[in-house]
Amino acid sequence: MAKTSCMSKAFAAVFGILTILVTGTLVGMVVYYNMELQKLNPTPPPTVPSTTLAPPPEMRLRGDVLPESYKVFIQVYFYTRIIEEVNVTSPNQTLTYDGNVTVHLKCVKKTKTIFLHSRHQEVFNATVKNRDSNKYLGVEECIFHKDESDFLEIVLNEALEVGGNYSLFLNFSADINEYLDGLYLSTYQEGEYLVATNLEPTSARSVFPCFDEPAMKARFTLTVIHRKDTIALANEDPADSNLIGDDWLYTRFHPTEVMSTYLFAFTVSEFTAKKTNHLDRKIYTYARPEATEAGHTDYAVSITGKILDFYQDYFDIGYTQKLDQIALPDLGPQAMENWGLVMYQEGGLLYQEGVSSHLQKEEISFLIAHELAHQWFGNLVTMKWWNEVWLNEGFATYMSSLAVDRALPSLKVRDMFLANQLHIAFEADSLASSHPLTPPAAEVQTTDQIVALFDQITYSKGSAVLTMLEDVLGERVFHKGIKVGHAQSESFTRVDIKKVMNTWTNQIGYPVITINTSSGDAYQKQFLYNDTSESKYWTRKGIEGEWILVNVNCTGFYRVNYDLDNWARLLNDLPLLNRGQLIDDAFNLARAKQVSVILALNSTRFLRNETEYLPWESATRNLQYFIHMFDRSEVYGPMKMYLQNQVKVLYNFFKDYTDNSTVPDVPTSQFNQINAIKVACSNGLPECLDMATSMFHSWMTSGTNKIHPNLRSTIYCQAIAAGGQKEWEFAWDRFQSTTDLSEKYQLSEALTCTKKIWLLNRYLGYTLDSEKIRLMDVSSVIGSVAKNEAGQALAWNFIRANWDYVSQQYEGAYLIQEVTSRFSTPFELEELEHFATKYDLSSATRAVENAMEQTRVNIHWVNEHKETVLDCVVYGFSQLFNIHS
Ligand SMILES: *[C@@H]1O[C@H](CO)[C@@H](O)[C@H](O)[C@H]1NC(C)=O
Ligand SMILES: *[C@@H]1O[C@H](CO)[C@@H](O)[C@H](O)[C@H]1NC(C)=O
Ligand SMILES: *[C@@H]1O[C@H](CO)[C@@H](O)[C@H](O)[C@H]1NC(C)=O
Ligand SMILES: *[C@@H]1O[C@H](CO)[C@@H](O)[C@H](O)[C@H]1NC(C)=O
Ligand SMILES: *[C@@H]1O[C@H](CO)[C@@H](O)[C@H](O)[C@H]1NC(C)=O
Ligand SMILES: *[C@@H]1O[C@H](CO)[C@@H](O)[C@H](O)[C@H]1NC(C)=O
Ligand SMILES: *[C@@H]1O[C@H](CO)[C@@H](O)[C@H](O)[C@H]1NC(C)=O
Ligand SMILES: *[C@@H]1O[C@H](CO)[C@@H](O)[C@H](O)[C@H]1NC(C)=O
Ligand SMILES: *[C@@H]1O[C@H](CO)[C@@H](O)[C@H](O)[C@H]1NC(C)=O
Ligand SMILES: [Zn+2]
Repeated sequence: MAKTSCMSKAFAAVFGILTILVTGTLVGMVVYYNMELQKLNPTPPPTVPSTTLAPPPEMRLRGDVLPESYKVFIQVYFYTRIIEEVNVTSPNQTLTYDGNVTVHLKCVKKTKTIFLHSRHQEVFNATVKNRDSNKYLGVEECIFHKDESDFLEIVLNEALEVGGNYSLFLNFSADINEYLDGLYLSTYQEGEYLVATNLEPTSARSVFPCFDEPAMKARFTLTVIHRKDTIALANEDPADSNLIGDDWLYTRFHPTEVMSTYLFAFTVSEFTAKKTNHLDRKIYTYARPEATEAGHTDYAVSITGKILDFYQDYFDIGYTQKLDQIALPDLGPQAMENWGLVMYQEGGLLYQEGVSSHLQKEEISFLIAHELAHQWFGNLVTMKWWNEVWLNEGFATYMSSLAVDRALPSLKVRDMFLANQLHIAFEADSLASSHPLTPPAAEVQTTDQIVALFDQITYSKGSAVLTMLEDVLGERVFHKGIKVGHAQSESFTRVDIKKVMNTWTNQIGYPVITINTSSGDAYQKQFLYNDTSESKYWTRKGIEGEWILVNVNCTGFYRVNYDLDNWARLLNDLPLLNRGQLIDDAFNLARAKQVSVILALNSTRFLRNETEYLPWESATRNLQYFIHMFDRSEVYGPMKMYLQNQVKVLYNFFKDYTDNSTVPDVPTSQFNQINAIKVACSNGLPECLDMATSMFHSWMTSGTNKIHPNLRSTIYCQAIAAGGQKEWEFAWDRFQSTTDLSEKYQLSEALTCTKKIWLLNRYLGYTLDSEKIRLMDVSSVIGSVAKNEAGQALAWNFIRANWDYVSQQYEGAYLIQEVTSRFSTPFELEELEHFATKYDLSSATRAVENAMEQTRVNIHWVNEHKETVLDCVVYGFSQLFNIHS
């Protein structure tokens, strides 16, 4: 244990047990990464011990042949522009591509069949050659497995011999995808097109036949044949590029590093770039020519080099690839870390001075930092199988907060970011249907199972656990551990690692530590919303009756409960640093019925005088649960009155700024100002509603928008919520006509705020038309409608009626979480159970299980607490909280 953080001295003993486990875990993790790195460094040949390629063989490649390199030719026939002839009504685009692939293979186990992956393709001319003897082997047949394995089985009439070098040649042809998967088409402006790839986790196999598992690393040499006047980008720089005939351009790229298939990438477009000369390296940032021209990539260009420098320093490994970043009008995920060609949604990379908000600037910074962290964690060092994807995502998330903090110190957002990750992780990990950071590989076999792992546990718990380790070990030790080549690793064996890793990575949940300061008892057990267990897995006597506050800096991945006296003392005199965490603990302990609801509500009393961001953020987030449980009941009215009263001081604190449409300098104050407006307006504070409505109307009548970019989302939302059809139609017209990306984004969310059912329904209907709402934005629009109490039932009906369309791009899990967040009646549970049996849930299976568990807990909780909460808000609040009318 490096320092006695997060506890008073008396508590050190209790904490000991946690820390030992934690320290072991980190050492384990560091060792794990070092071993991975050493295996790959120097890079070729890829050595994948066959023992690590686990059964069952139905879904996993058997590992009897291993790919070493691919030579891929792809010709894409699409046009970037359709020149419409006068009398041609429907333009003729060509959405096909074809090509061939030659894979060099090493045989490590005698076999007469080669299994690889292929999806949605036609494959011809399979040819297998022994490269040692230069002889061809007879191919008996090619079998497509028509199941989730996506296997292409090539049956030979003689066996491949161990140690032999072979090559496999295949011709393939396929359609360019129109649903943002694999090699897909994107449309922008009027009638301009590009193609790009989106391959993580298992779509490389739908671009060309390949051994599509992360451990099957190889080098890729790609040649793209594309129409002249377009440019092709890929993981590497072009080696040469020539015209073929009059129409085609041939671009051959340098061989890549040894890498996983899911990192393969290319695009063909008419995009242009800004170049940064950063030290001895050129970084190109690509976007639509208009966006590049207008300087929208300038912010990204200005920070990328700084972040890259930070990582090179921190990891002590130089970045040797070229680096291109590209802003795409359509992209399934927010961003993707393809080695050397990092892709972003436009909103994730483009920043418009005077239109984009501070929040967007921050999001762009974190995204770039996250994706660049992957160039080391993920690209250079890769998990062996998807069940350990948290090693990629948890590390990248954790590292992004560090990089932004160090490389862009003026943003000052690390604390906020970490607190946020912690809370997201806590909530997700409070259900018995949660999953461990590293689930057993056998449970992560199909694409749906893999996709389901890209969730809040993987990203946020992964990051939160690392934050705790850094705090416990001390930054220096932690850093040293992450750096490559740390000698300590050699003394550990894999068995040790597995054992110490178990605690945090192989089990679900996290502990709540309960301390009784008067008796001196302390124990810990798993924290669950449905807390039925009496088992307390560790007890200790002997803590003195002193004032005690645990987890001071909020870096521990555990909650703390106290005896009532200590709670009373803490709530009376809350330490600034921790008010947020204490509120979070109080509310969640109340949700788990470990403290009374009154205590939790009582913890919001001090908000009346509070002007700091974190406590307000924590309180509003936690009250959201109460609001969700009661906003369709008689409890809601009194609750709104209470919150309206509590937020007055905060609202007035920022009033001068808000009324002048200016913002304070400090970033957290800027967020707090937004929060103040949100809480004040949504709970009906008249001066807030007046302010929002009049600012919006002045935009409607004058045509000039004087609202500060930071405040736009919130003010649009509140004005549309308070307004009617006129306000909504104005916003919708602006949404359709504006070319400002940030404004589009702000408006698309605000349009979900109306209380008019018919407008919400119409807007939901628009999500089925990709000309109105881009496919990649469908789920966020529906999710935002579901957050609105007037829209939640509509959204639930809507996703059931259009499940196949709306759950594309693996968005089902997110939608389920959003639409079910208010579910708290037996009837809703029944509907959910029916849904679970009658629909194809694919990657949303676990989300539905989580939702069913949460609904059961909610039914129970609401039954038990409705009276208390009602009493509290109706009869008690005025007295309890000293409300003046
Ligand atoms: C909490 O964090 C602050 C700032 O990082 C540090 O100075 C302080 O020592 C930490 N406190 C504990 C108890 O770890
Ligand atoms: C459209 O199809 C016609 C006839 O097949 C062809 O001559 C023309 O070049 C095509 N135009 C485009 C832009 O694809
Ligand atoms: C298309 O338009 C051109 C000129 O406008 C005309 O000469 C030609 O006959 C038209 N073709 C058809 C098939 O209508
Ligand atoms: C693969 O395709 C490219 C481009 O069409 C072609 O030049 C090459 O000859 C093909 N390779 C083989 C082995 O057929
Ligand atoms: C298969 O190979 C033959 C001979 O090399 C070639 O003519 C043919 O075009 C190939 N088929 C496909 C679909 O590429
Ligand atoms: C609320 O907290 C205050 C201050 O700690 C305490 O005096 C009061 O008794 C509490 N009320 C309830 C109902 O718990
Ligand atoms: C708020 O501050 C005022 C003045 O400082 C004080 O009198 C009052 O007790 C405080 N209220 C709460 C709920 O903390
Ligand atoms: C707001 O505007 C008023 C009048 O123009 C000015 O006196 C005040 O200082 C401004 N406040 C802020 C915070 O800019
Ligand atoms: C809580 O968990 C227990 C045991 O796991 C289960 O029997 C019970 O139904 C659950 N209660 C709720 C409300 O989900
Ligand atoms: Zn990531």
